[in-house]
Amino acid sequence: MTPDDVAKLQYSFGQMVPKKDEIAKVFYERLFEVAPAVRPLFKGSIEEQGQKLVMALRQIVLSLKQPNELTTFLKGLGERHVGYGAVAAHYDVVGGVLLWTFENVMGNDFTPELKELWGGAYGVISAAMQEAAASLEPAE
Ligand code: HEM
Repeated sequence: MTPDDVAKLQYSFGQMVPKKDEIAKVFYERLFEVAPAVRPLFKGSIEEQGQKLVMALRQIVLSLKQPNELTTFLKGLGERHVGYGAVAAHYDVVGGVLLWTFENVMGNDFTPELKELWGGAYGVISAAMQEAAASLEPAE
């Protein structure tokens, strides 16, 4: 990811901040519509969960320039997600729903270039989380 890509993602995140509540609401509604099986994994209130999602995205976007910090954050996040019951297939669903949400809430601000950049960033993030999850598995 080039410094220019990082700057674009950070600018794009800045545009999303005022719409964070709507993004969170649309995201979970869509997620539970396309993947009802994941609904029972979420125990807390969806409002609360939405805030956590936005905070995690903020953390990721802000630390794209500090890869070491980001790696530590994603390792812990990936390990905790094993306990939440998240499996590999869920990561694809969540990534698709996230891009769908950005497109629907942000409209023309979410350009094809940004879709590409966010998709790439999500791929890197979810790979790091899943790698951490896999390394928790006991060796056979
Ligand atoms: C880039 C991908 C993801 C990010 C950034 C993310 C972020 C978060 C954050 C910040 C939390 C709050 C708790 C904590 O920090 O440990 C959380 C909880 C949770 N996440 Fe994720 N998540 C991602 C992917 C997924 C996926 C693929 C699933 C699968 C369905 C999932 C299911 C959950 C569940 C079930 C909880 C706990 C909810 C509860 O306690 O009620 N997440 N996630």
